[in-house]
Amino acid sequence: MTFKVSQHESSPNELARRVSRETPEWTPIAEEAARAARVLHPDRYGMPRPSHRRVLTVANQKGGVGKTTSTVNLAAALAMHGVRVLVIDLDPQGNASTALGVEHRVGTPSIYEVLLAEMRLAEAAAVSTASPNLLCVPATIDLAGVEIELVSMVARENRLRQALTDRALAELNVDYVFVDCPPSLGLLTVNALVAANEVLIPIQCEYYALEGLGQLLSNIDLVRAHLNTSLHVSTILLTMYDGRTKLADQVTTEVRGHFGNTALRTVIPRSVKVSEAPGFSQTVLAYDPGSRGAMSYIDAAREIAERGAVMDLPPRRDGR
Ligand SMILES: Nc1ncnc2c1ncn2[C@@H]1O[C@H](COP(=O)(O)OP(=O)(O)O)[C@@H](O)[C@H]1O
Ligand SMILES: [Mg+2]
Repeated sequence: MTFKVSQHESSPNELARRVSRETPEWTPIAEEAARAARVLHPDRYGMPRPSHRRVLTVANQKGGVGKTTSTVNLAAALAMHGVRVLVIDLDPQGNASTALGVEHRVGTPSIYEVLLAEMRLAEAAAVSTASPNLLCVPATIDLAGVEIELVSMVARENRLRQALTDRALAELNVDYVFVDCPPSLGLLTVNALVAANEVLIPIQCEYYALEGLGQLLSNIDLVRAHLNTSLHVSTILLTMYDGRTKLADQVTTEVRGHFGNTALRTVIPRSVKVSEAPGFSQTVLAYDPGSRGAMSYIDAAREIAERGAVMDLPPRRDGR
């Protein structure tokens, strides 16, 4: 099997590291500090821009599988390595907004006004504290009622797509858009699937990991057949991997058997640091840059960026 948990690739500093490792002063803490320095000063290890702008919807109707955590940390990893990224928080809980240090009190310009076409995307986008390259359109609690409000509107499944025009995204100058979905297959998630080209599905290495996945996949098929021909599942990310359990390996094997290379080689380990970071309104990259959690999200982001650099253009659709 070829997956890896948080192995960082060699870098120009590798030689220096090897040399210093042989000196008596080399300690695990020094190694972690060196890793942290590479995360915090990544200029030399930039990630490639994609061949075309990528819009990825992060979806799984199960709650707690790592959608939000993966959205914010992948986005931050790309942004810290020189790629311009927009995160759209489409969950009324606003957890992605919190982790990215973006205001989302009632009254803040948010995705709610954008979906109602009361505001342009650029007016609602705020710069994240995680990186100047990272923008976020936050979600306020107003979004909680929007599924009911949308029901009676024209083109109710197309509201997000109509906001994410080429022009709007060019104005923000972003190469990647990640849409963080709520834990349901309601109208907000449908809007996200209609607006994207790609779906990224985080799967937790746990009991019942694959339960409900069939329903998600058939919804994606329905959206592709009727609303968005360019939609496809491009990326599977295994999250909360616990190397001490046999179960985690079984889930990993099963997912790889099912999805093949769509699943990233990098697997995100279960790590306390990852779960602590949002409590400080931070990504794990800022909270503990030398941690395994931070390194694994950087590895996963690099895989995504490398795939994106050689990707074929998606089929053109009306209005895009
Ligand atoms: N790799 C991880 N290790 C430890 N805890 C994690 C990890 N990924 C996510 N969590 C925690 O699990 C919970 C659910 O994650 P979250 O990203 O909010 O899921 P979702 O958005 O799918 O509901 C959160 O408390 C989060 O901090
Ligand atoms: Mg979430």
